[in-house]
Amino acid sequence: MKVVTTIQEMQSEIRQLKEKGHSIGFVPTMGFLHEGHLTLLKKARQENDTVVLSIFVNPLQFGPKEDFSTYPRDFERDCALAEGEKIDYVFFPSVKEMYPGSASVKVVVEKRTDVLCGKSRPGHFDGVATVITKLFNIIMPTRAYFGIKDAQQVAVIDGLISDFNFPIELVAVDIVREQDGLAKSSRNVNLLPEDRQQATVLYKSLQAAKEAIFHGERNPVTLVNLIKEMITSESKGEIDYVDIFSYPELKPLEELNDRIIIALAVKFTKVRLIDNLIININ
Ligand code: PAF
Repeated sequence: MKVVTTIQEMQSEIRQLKEKGHSIGFVPTMGFLHEGHLTLLKKARQENDTVVLSIFVNPLQFGPKEDFSTYPRDFERDCALAEGEKIDYVFFPSVKEMYPGSASVKVVVEKRTDVLCGKSRPGHFDGVATVITKLFNIIMPTRAYFGIKDAQQVAVIDGLISDFNFPIELVAVDIVREQDGLAKSSRNVNLLPEDRQQATVLYKSLQAAKEAIFHGERNPVTLVNLIKEMITSESKGEIDYVDIFSYPELKPLEELNDRIIIALAVKFTKVRLIDNLIININ
């Protein structure tokens, strides 16, 4: 496994791989790898000749009051995990390498961002789309792997790939959960013990909504209220949003039909957690 820290060296490696006709699987991350990331790496390993993992905590996608400085980082541990998954390259640039000066161009996302995390984190998806555009241009992957836990991010990148004509296949991979249902996230380590316990209500509430849909409930307001009531009665979590939209368009619905997403974001002390369920309604 090779660790590459400069764009120039990464591009030169990629050029040589392309000359050999290698397919390239790319897993972009901000590091502090967990099982969710390992699932992406495993899938990328199965489907490509070469696998590149990027580790870059992207300052552009954090708001001024968000957790950029406390975002967990452990490069040594990440490398050991990546090695275990037989990854070929870890691209680990510094902030200066990625953003050497004030940028003259940035990517602005026009659709699918006025709701959910986009609404509560203004500019977040512009930051994600900007760094992903740069990373796609550096790595030039055949396939790029993203976890569906960040379902809005997947929807935004789907739009980026098609609008900017990147010849890249987007592979969306299912949420990996702890045994008690909590979605795996790098931020989970920052949960206080009591919050960690209470956070299990997130998945439970999504399951309760799914059960209600299974029994015929089609009113989004009723379902959102059901979820909110469960969260507030079983935890001290502060609800940022609980919403239901069409997926991947993220349009509001009066009645559930086709493919929908039930998504939520809840803050536990200092940690904001997200989770979702995507369901096909018959
Ligand atoms: O999902 C993440 O970890 C980040 O948003 C990503 C895709 C690596 C871009 O910085």
